[in-house]
Amino acid sequence: MSKDLARQTALVTGATAGIGRATALALAGRGADVIVHGRDRERAARVVQQIEALGVRVRFEPADLSDPTEVTALAERAGDVDVLVNNAGIFRFARTSDTDLATFDVHIAVNVRAPYLLVQALAPGMVERGRGAIVNISSGAATTPGAGSGVYGATKAALESLTRVWAAEFGPSGVRVNAVAAGPTRTEGTSGFGEAFESVGRSVALQRLADPEEIAAAVAFMASPQASYVNGTVLSAVGGLPAHG
Ligand SMILES: NC(=O)c1ccc[n+]([C@@H]2O[C@H](COP(=O)([O-])OP(=O)(O)OC[C@H]3O[C@@H](n4cnc5c(N)ncnc54)[C@H](OP(=O)(O)O)[C@@H]3O)[C@@H](O)[C@H]2O)c1
Repeated sequence: MSKDLARQTALVTGATAGIGRATALALAGRGADVIVHGRDRERAARVVQQIEALGVRVRFEPADLSDPTEVTALAERAGDVDVLVNNAGIFRFARTSDTDLATFDVHIAVNVRAPYLLVQALAPGMVERGRGAIVNISSGAATTPGAGSGVYGATKAALESLTRVWAAEFGPSGVRVNAVAAGPTRTEGTSGFGEAFESVGRSVALQRLADPEEIAAAVAFMASPQASYVNGTVLSAVGGLPAHG
């Protein structure tokens, strides 16, 4: 693997598990120094150890992204960041009639407000340095209706919309902003979904769930110089749509 991200610093939110951890490892594999973000210190210590073994610099920065003051403090502690991956996200599925205010609000806070505040705080530095890449982790739920995925899908659709706006706002300064829409992926967050989730996996064209590393490879590509003319787009890593009939 080429070290095309050497001498760059990447902040990956939610890097203590699942897609975020796989992404942090993929970016480190391409030579990036990595800031691992999350909340769980034990999980973080394991990821930090794995990344250290790849010979790059790594540190853990904890923050609860549902709290805006913690988000801005995280951005301050992160310092100069060349690659920002807005990966941390929550998904608590419930039909609209069963969704309470707290569930609605925390989805907006973690999945939309936190990426917004991080971009607001970190993109100006990228603009000043004339380079940077931001990758937002979206979901097939942004565009495909699912029973119970209303609020979650809406937050991901918002993130895709922001991706296009940020690409236009920061593109002229050499900062690229893209999204990767992940399909159903085996992670800590989905481990309790059981057979219903396996069945979602069988419903995509590839007829299986994704491994986090498969999503991470798409994210690392979007963050890398190999995607130097890709801006404001959503890369679909959802396993393909099945044909009907
Ligand atoms: N898995 C899928 O099937 C799938 C499909 C499409 C899109 N996605 C998207 O991919 C992203 C990652 O999903 P995943 O399945 O890998 O998730 P996961 O296994 O549940 O891991 C979530 C990560 O986000 C962090 N996190 C969650 N809430 C947080 C908060 N309030 N403050 C700070 N950190 C927080 C967790 O940190 P701690 O554990 O350290 O607290 C953890 O590192 C999400 O944006 C999700 O919407 C996932």
